[in-house]
Amino acid sequence: MSLRAVAEATAPGKLILAGEHAVVYGAPAIAFAVDRETRVTLRRRPGPTAVDDAPFADARLGAALSAVLPAGGIGVSIASTLPVGRGMGSSAALAIALVRAAATLDGRALTPAEEHAAGFAVEAVFHGTPSGVDHGVCGAGGCVRYRRVDGAPVFARLPVRQGIGLWVIDTGAPGDTAEMVAGVRARRPGIDAALAAIARGVDHLTALWCAGAPAAALGPLLTDNHRLLQDIGVSTPALDAAVSLALAHGAAGAKLCGAGGGGVVLALGSPNAALPAAAAAQGWSAFPVGIAPPRR
Ligand code: MEV
Repeated sequence: MSLRAVAEATAPGKLILAGEHAVVYGAPAIAFAVDRETRVTLRRRPGPTAVDDAPFADARLGAALSAVLPAGGIGVSIASTLPVGRGMGSSAALAIALVRAAATLDGRALTPAEEHAAGFAVEAVFHGTPSGVDHGVCGAGGCVRYRRVDGAPVFARLPVRQGIGLWVIDTGAPGDTAEMVAGVRARRPGIDAALAAIARGVDHLTALWCAGAPAAALGPLLTDNHRLLQDIGVSTPALDAAVSLALAHGAAGAKLCGAGGGGVVLALGSPNAALPAAAAAQGWSAFPVGIAPPRR
């Protein structure tokens, strides 16, 4: 491979079915890559390396670029179909797309492990102490069970269950992952029983998901998971109301997704056709989401 003048790469966002926050402390999480993505284009040009074009402003972007790119000579364009800061993996998708584009620009081929390791440096800029589940599933695609054991990522592929009826309700309010993770850390050990219950729920959900259990059986596990996320202090009145709205519109289960403090709710089991209008009446949006295919 050889140096290029321009390189482009994409990576999907993600949603966590169960296990957020507990995964930071070594418990497993189940997550899937979504059918929305971020695209990064790198162009060699004179001057300092900088973002030339992005759909959002974030003071941390400069540090994220320097985690992967040289200080000079590269213009960066970012495009994304992901809502930013809502638990759908906008920073993780950016991390993986950036790492992939940088490797292509330099004519390097990365192994999945190298890509994951490089992605940590970008995610750390946005999240402080990431478990790696977010950029891990954005890199892997499909649906995975992820765990960090002695600092090393352990992935297991789970079946991609298209057609199970996955919907997102976006409350429009961003959450700050670093702040939410720090808050959970500060509340330990008082919330450790809830973190352990989250981990047990992930094991139960993994078994049912892999056995092909219907949405009616999986949904209540998501709602239980939401209650535990309330117990560890990361839900908000809007997220609780969005969960109730999904359940009132026929979802089999619903939960906040990602760090919390704002962001999206994931509903499982095909809520009825009135959900988008009901969400819009609250100033939110509701849309179906698919699982992006496994990458490798
Ligand atoms: C955020 O999407 C998931 C958290 O568990 C943080 C992490 O795993 O790094 C809250």
